Parts: sequence; C-alpha cells; structure tokens
Amino acid sequence: MVNNDLVSSEHLPVAEACLRNQRPILDVLGKYLPASSYVLEVGSGTGQHAAYMTEHLPGVRWQPTEVRERLNDIRLWQTHCQRDGFLAPLELDVRQDIWPTREADAVFSANVVHFVSWAEVESLFRGAQRALRTGGLLILYGPYNYDGQFTSEGNIALDQWLRERNPDSGIKDFEQIVLLGRSHDLFLRADEEMPANNRTLIFQKAEIS
Ligand SMILES: C[S@@+](CC[C@H](N)C(=O)[O-])C[C@H]1O[C@@H](n2cnc3c(N)ncnc32)[C@H](O)[C@@H]1O
Repeated sequence: MVNNDLVSSEHLPVAEACLRNQRPILDVLGKYLPASSYVLEVGSGTGQHAAYMTEHLPGVRWQPTEVRERLNDIRLWQTHCQRDGFLAPLELDVRQDIWPTREADAVFSANVVHFVSWAEVESLFRGAQRALRTGGLLILYGPYNYDGQFTSEGNIALDQWLRERNPDSGIKDFEQIVLLGRSHDLFLRADEEMPANNRTLIFQKAEIS
C-alpha cells in the first residue's frame, strides 16, 4: 500500500510507450469524449494515462483499474497527482462477472487487446457492454491486423514477442473485433490512425434492440 505522503516523481513507474502515445491518445479522446465524462479504464498498467488525461481533460473523472498485483503502481501515480478527477484504482480482471461500474460514458483500454487471449477480449466486450450507458463509447487503442495482414514489420515482431510469452495472446484482426462489437450492441463509429502503426477503435453502445 502507498502511504498518504506525496510520492515524488523519481519513485513513479514509467512505461516508455505511454510517454510516446499519451499525446495522440489525448487528441482522439478530446474529439470524442463529452467534456464532462466518467471513464472506466481497463488494464491501466502504470496509471500514466489516468495521470495525463486527467491533467489535460479537467472535466473527466477517470477510473483506472487493473488486476490486483498491478494496483500499487497506479496508487503511486494517484498519490503523486492529487487530482480530483483521478479516482482511486479498483481491481478489475476482465474475466470477472461483475464489474465495479455501470453507466460509464466511456470504457477506455490501451494496449490490452493484443496482450490478452481472444477469450479475454470477449470478456472485455461483455463487461464493457454492461458497464456503459446507452450511447457510451468503448475506446480501444493498439495495433490491429487488416485483411489478415500485419501492418508493419514492428507489429510482426511485437506479435512474435507476445506469443512467445503467452501463445494465446497476439495482435487481433480488426474485422473480428468489429463483429465481436456488433454481437454486444457496440457498433464501430471510428477507426483513427495513430502513430507507429497503431489505431484507436471507437465503438458506440446502441439501444438494446
Ligand atoms: C501492455 S500492458 C498495457 C498497460 C497500459 N494500458 C498501457 O497502455 O501502458 C497490458 C495490461 O493488461 C493488463 N491485463 C492483462 N490481463 C488482464 C485481464 N485479464 N484483465 C484486466 N487487465 C489485464 C496487464 O496487467 C497489463 O497492465
């Protein structure tokens, strides 16, 4: 656990990838998120996105979540930032039946879809469908394959590295993700090109038919 004294910057966990992608992600979030939004983040990692987005989107309340063993990193960032919109991290494994939130304006997840198995991605969509309000957005940042093809040499290397670590993980097909969304009343609204052959996919939850 983190004590309540302020945590200084040199004690904060830093993922280099977050430093590179936070600005482009902010630009996309700024375009789609209502100014005053409640965002549930899945697989928050270090918590850097929570820190950066709440600094630059002051109307947003950001709920970071992670599997239990990674929560402490996020607590360090939250204690460091001391910002109202940066909510205390909650435990969430996408496979849980019950998620800690309902009526979220958005569910955001960066670099998680390729990191986990297809079964976990299905759980992510099932959970997001329940956690979002009608009209809410599921926002997924990361690499995807199109027409069954990798989009860069870097993504081929990433996929290989992921599968050596966990054979069930790896970069997913855009088309399958879109179909999965549809089967959960989550319809693709935008596919934004991002630096370094990444994408941000934005799904919107429709009225239950
Ligand atoms: C590549 S990291 C991305 C972290 C962060 N979102 C970022 O962009 O830096 C993938 C994250 O997914 C989390 N994760 C893996 N399996 C998960 C699961 N079943 N439920 C929730 N999170 C999971 C890991 O703990 C890890 O922090």
